[in-house]
Amino acid sequence: MRAATALIAAVSAAGAVSALPADDASSLILHPKPTKPTKPSKPSKDVNPFEGKVHYVNPVWADKLDQTYNSFIKQKDFANAKRVRKVQAVSTFVWVSRLSELANIDGAIATARKEQRRTGKKQIIGLVLYNLPDRDCSAGESAGELDSTQNGLQRYKDEFLKPYVAKVSAAPDLEFAIVLEPDSLGNLVTNMAVPLCARAAPIYTEGIAHAIAALQQDNVHLYIDAAHGGWLGWADNLPLAAAEFAKAVNRAKEISGTNATTVRGFSTNVSNYNPFNATVRENYTEWSPSWDESHYATSLAPFLEAQGLPAHFLVDQGRVHAPGARKEWGEWCNVSPAGFGQVPTTKTENPYVDSLVWIKPGGESDGQCGFAGAPKAGAWHDEYAQHLTKNAHPSVDKNNSVRKDGMARSRAVQL
Ligand code: GLC
Repeated sequence: MRAATALIAAVSAAGAVSALPADDASSLILHPKPTKPTKPSKPSKDVNPFEGKVHYVNPVWADKLDQTYNSFIKQKDFANAKRVRKVQAVSTFVWVSRLSELANIDGAIATARKEQRRTGKKQIIGLVLYNLPDRDCSAGESAGELDSTQNGLQRYKDEFLKPYVAKVSAAPDLEFAIVLEPDSLGNLVTNMAVPLCARAAPIYTEGIAHAIAALQQDNVHLYIDAAHGGWLGWADNLPLAAAEFAKAVNRAKEISGTNATTVRGFSTNVSNYNPFNATVRENYTEWSPSWDESHYATSLAPFLEAQGLPAHFLVDQGRVHAPGARKEWGEWCNVSPAGFGQVPTTKTENPYVDSLVWIKPGGESDGQCGFAGAPKAGAWHDEYAQHLTKNAHPSVDKNNSVRKDGMARSRAVQL
């Protein structure tokens, strides 16, 4: 069991309930047992798990970019072909978005282990855990395979969480950062008028709480997804968001029966396009304190702390829109113009932010929307990968790691 890092302050039952939005009543009926005020557990040293580690590079994603490399070679665009080789050496998260993708964890463990042995340097693997019943209840493009009316929660626990936990527990030699269920709790804060979200609400909280309770290993660092600044970053939404997150964490403590049940922090901007440090402030952000993701982290932090939650963040910069690309903040689907963002770094200049990371693997579609010809969510879209390459953040060109020609074959992991 991992010692508590920052979940020190206990949230009293009364405090937690009064801070909840009215439409969370259904969940309270399902879990009427109040969280008992518990003694604060001993805090351990507050360590950024990404500091000093090699961020895992996923060869399965890098292999897909070979097509993009070949496209540029065919066009005799050698500058961008060279840039693709740099992109292929950037760390991205490994998504486990359905039961059949549990094997992705085995592939990542095998590759990271080999790299760790070869280099003698500790690897941290970024994973996304994404398979709640009634998934993507408001947008629909990433609807999942489990249905809450068809025993979905039980199947999530038995067929998804159990093997997931078994796999990461069997690799204590590696470190894992796991992003929990992108957008899910965000939907509970703002989309309860959508019938599928209202139906899914107690299932989402319960599912995430079980994931937290089951993943309390020393080598696992959990980040609950906190959507993005344009969604939960509005002044009215910040306290509601923090209360929703606290509900899931407090429920996880009930399930595991210990106040030492903890998460490292929160992920933001997953699969979205917001810049970390905006060079231009967009008009649609005018009334928001969270007008870029660094400001979102800073504005959410005190509300998290007030709930006894750790104010640490991972910010996805896998794709970032160009200034003026969107008319509204709500545009989230294969946005253009956009480019690969700032490459992963722990030098964030924001003490709340553990690391900038690439969570959404650029080139994998957001759904059949936005950029012309976009395929279904998750499917490879070479034209869009080319687009992201052409508009890549300058840090990509400065990346010293390069994927060598022919590496695809030697490093490919058979899944
Ligand atoms: C989308 C897809 C999912 C995929 C992920 C990463 O959310 O629905 O299947 O794994 O994007 O590309």
